[in-house]
Amino acid sequence: MTSDSRLHSPPPPVFSPTSGAGSGIGRAVSVRLAKEGAAVAACDLDGAAARETVRLLGGPGSKEGAPRGSHAAFQADVSEARATRRLLEQVQACFSRPPSVVVSCAGITRDEFLLHMSEDDWDKVIAVNLKGIFLVTQAAAQALVSTGCHGSIINISSIIGKVGNTGQTNYAASKAGVIGLTQTVARELGRHGIRCNSVLPGFIATPMTQKMPQKVIDKVTSMIPMGHWGDPEDVADVVAFLASEDSRYITGASVEVTGMKPAWEGKGQRSGTQTT
Ligand SMILES: NC(=O)c1ccc[n+]([C@@H]2O[C@H](COP(=O)([O-])OP(=O)(O)OC[C@H]3O[C@@H](n4cnc5c(N)ncnc54)[C@H](O)[C@@H]3O)[C@@H](O)[C@H]2O)c1
Repeated sequence: MTSDSRLHSPPPPVFSPTSGAGSGIGRAVSVRLAKEGAAVAACDLDGAAARETVRLLGGPGSKEGAPRGSHAAFQADVSEARATRRLLEQVQACFSRPPSVVVSCAGITRDEFLLHMSEDDWDKVIAVNLKGIFLVTQAAAQALVSTGCHGSIINISSIIGKVGNTGQTNYAASKAGVIGLTQTVARELGRHGIRCNSVLPGFIATPMTQKMPQKVIDKVTSMIPMGHWGDPEDVADVVAFLASEDSRYITGASVEVTGMKPAWEGKGQRSGTQTT
């Protein structure tokens, strides 16, 4: 990546709402896009964490509803339709334009083996990881299409959505759903100049994965062909590419950021990793 800004049509700087921006991958994406010249709307269920991300970005936008042209923090639960609509209205009012880059990073896990998984754990994961992406993508797309603006929508899925993982029927289903949603959105919105791609991280060191037991971490590490976990910045670099004009002819793609798919066939699947 170069230090020159490569995001959509600068100037004016792009405006990128990033959900799940208060931690891990979402925070790294916010930092990276801000470096590329974007005005970042950092959105998270945890409003204090979103404000901390904005503080890390620098500039005057360290409060909710920050002045135009700077970064701003917003609190929202992306799994709720009304909250997501309000979020998009708030960020548009703050930045005076629809977002040209939209990144959905919000995600949760509620791991359990199929035989014991509760309906509540199923519903919660699907609500945040899949419905949340539908709601954010739909609201952003409506804003872009109604104003005739072009844009790039980037949804964070997971390699687990492609290969499954023991103990994660809910998570794997939600992430596979994101891939299908993204491909369909790309088909529907291509003629409006709106691209939609998903990123499939493998094992990335973030607060989400830090809660794993050490023995599981060691086992996962031994299955990654590159021999080590990814950093949130490894994912953020790919998001920055998909946000930029350098990826102008890429849409509907699922980009794997895994250090190559974990080689767990016949070795990890039986005992399970219950991770991301
Ligand atoms: N860490 C990994 O190894 C890994 C691998 C593949 C995919 N992913 C995906 O990447 C994304 C980011 O994961 P991470 O590892 O940075 O996790 P994380 O737990 O560090 O960050 C997730 C963020 O999402 C926010 N969030 C949760 N529910 C929300 C809601 N309802 N509304 C708004 N925000 C909400 C949390 O407050 C948190 O700040 C997730 O979608 C995750 O599934 C992570």
